[in-house]
Amino acid sequence: MKNLTVLTHPLIRVCVTALRDKTTPPAAFRRKLAEAAALMVVEITRNLATKTVPVETPLAATRGHVLKHEVILVPVLRAGLSFLDPFLQILPDAKVGFIGIKRDEATALPNVYSSSLPESLTGHDAILLDPMLATGGSAVAAIQMLRDRGAQSVRLVTLVAAPPGVRAVLKAHPSVAVFTAALDPRLNSRSYIVPGLGDAGDRAFRV
Ligand code: PRP
Ligand code: URA
Repeated sequence: MKNLTVLTHPLIRVCVTALRDKTTPPAAFRRKLAEAAALMVVEITRNLATKTVPVETPLAATRGHVLKHEVILVPVLRAGLSFLDPFLQILPDAKVGFIGIKRDEATALPNVYSSSLPESLTGHDAILLDPMLATGGSAVAAIQMLRDRGAQSVRLVTLVAAPPGVRAVLKAHPSVAVFTAALDPRLNSRSYIVPGLGDAGDRAFRV
């Protein structure tokens, strides 16, 4: 699928395996999500545009690079929160927005219950963080919110994706770049990814 990148670094695969394991407890689950994101961040930011600027070293004037656009990181609550810190480690000056979305358990349709985003994202590169891409309903809605505010590019970072979700995102938002560590074969009758890793929000956060 065009615009889908599956990141297959061996250390990412090791993280995915620990996350799939149903015996992995919440603290380790959050830590593994963060480790996987840390391993993914370089590939995901590879094509960020830069511009040249003057810089003075202790020895001479030369030219260097800075990012051309503001970056905004947007975790989708709840599971996306575990991806935030590793991205902030590499992009400490990024803005951070939040979108809260919960799927209806009966219909699997997304319900946006909260958001905190700048009024305008014109000229921003947005990086949307959500480990799970199942039907795609949540991601399509979140991306629409970023587009409505004028985001000039959107990257969607997932850990496990299923083909219906990838197709739904790329149909609704063809220019979005989708990244995942695993493309699983299917959804079950309750729209959970199989084999997947279960409910990522529930596994990350005890309630
Ligand atoms: C999960 C996941 C995505 C969504 C994916 O969140 O983190 O946001 O489901 O499913 P979709 O592609 O079919 O929309 P959930 O709604 O379970 O909320 P939670 O993270 O608070 O548990
Ligand atoms: N959300 C999850 O957390 N897991 C799935 O498999 C599907 C949606």
